[in-house]
Amino acid sequence: MRNLISLADLTSGELDRIVKRAVVFGRGDTGERPLAGRRVGIYFRKSSTRTRTSFWSGASRLGADVITFGPDELQISTGETLEDTARVLGEYLDALVVRTNGDMAEIRRLGSSPKLAVVNALTLDEHPTQAIADLATLTELFGDLAGRHVLCVGEGNSSGAALALAAALTPGLRLTLLCPKGYEVPRETLDLVAKLSEGQALVEQVTSADEVTGPVDAVYTSRWQTMGVPKANPDWLADFEGFRIDQGFFDRFAGPDTVFLHDLPAVRGQEVTDEVLDGERSVAWRQAHHKMTAAMAVLEWCVVGADDRI
Ligand code: CP
Repeated sequence: MRNLISLADLTSGELDRIVKRAVVFGRGDTGERPLAGRRVGIYFRKSSTRTRTSFWSGASRLGADVITFGPDELQISTGETLEDTARVLGEYLDALVVRTNGDMAEIRRLGSSPKLAVVNALTLDEHPTQAIADLATLTELFGDLAGRHVLCVGEGNSSGAALALAAALTPGLRLTLLCPKGYEVPRETLDLVAKLSEGQALVEQVTSADEVTGPVDAVYTSRWQTMGVPKANPDWLADFEGFRIDQGFFDRFAGPDTVFLHDLPAVRGQEVTDEVLDGERSVAWRQAHHKMTAAMAVLEWCVVGADDRI
């Protein structure tokens, strides 16, 4: 059993194999059922449309039986410790997919049983399976990502942090994080990016579009009001002025093959206009499909390993 709690726990080769496996699953049913006879639990304490459903669907497609738990359905909500919960669930389940309200420390405690693989399906600080879906979308389109440049615009949230870690593990992939001042990807994450890549990562963070050199291969944005978490400044929206991806913004950084990504859900008209999200360059809907292929690749890697399947 292997956990997938942070991308920082993976090697570059492991991430590459998981992403490539997600691309394979994206081509259609491979006929493989590597999780036949296995059991997957899905424990979400926060709302989700894509991640929870795609893990359920992906696990089922790979042959697993699935049980889901809502926020108050485990005895954790009445005080049972995370370690005791993991120890017990490890007797019944092979994997537990978890979305929490906190940082990843509590998921690490759930990941303490050697009999239970735990997957981080979003914490406040990282959304690793989202970044795997993002890389699968880009790999399917472009092949090798070395030499490609992604511009990620908006709040430096859990998706942005995961993308930065994924870029650190993807040699030659350039990532520019364009965030409003005060809403950047945390310094600790960028330090981790530098450490993971031994200083070779092509990840930079800027706060003004004038600092970005285009054209880029992909423009990526995310909901500004991440997961409904309130911001300290009640007038925060003013800080995001100029960060909306409208056609003019997209065209400013686009070449002939540039695509638009969005991890969804979108607030249409806020971080992105309908014209861009529904436009012919948008691959946001394919990216949503890859949420499921990423879930399949991650579960396979965690539960049975997939090192020799590429
Ligand atoms: N992108 C994403 O994680 O979507 P959900 O919150 O709907 O799972």
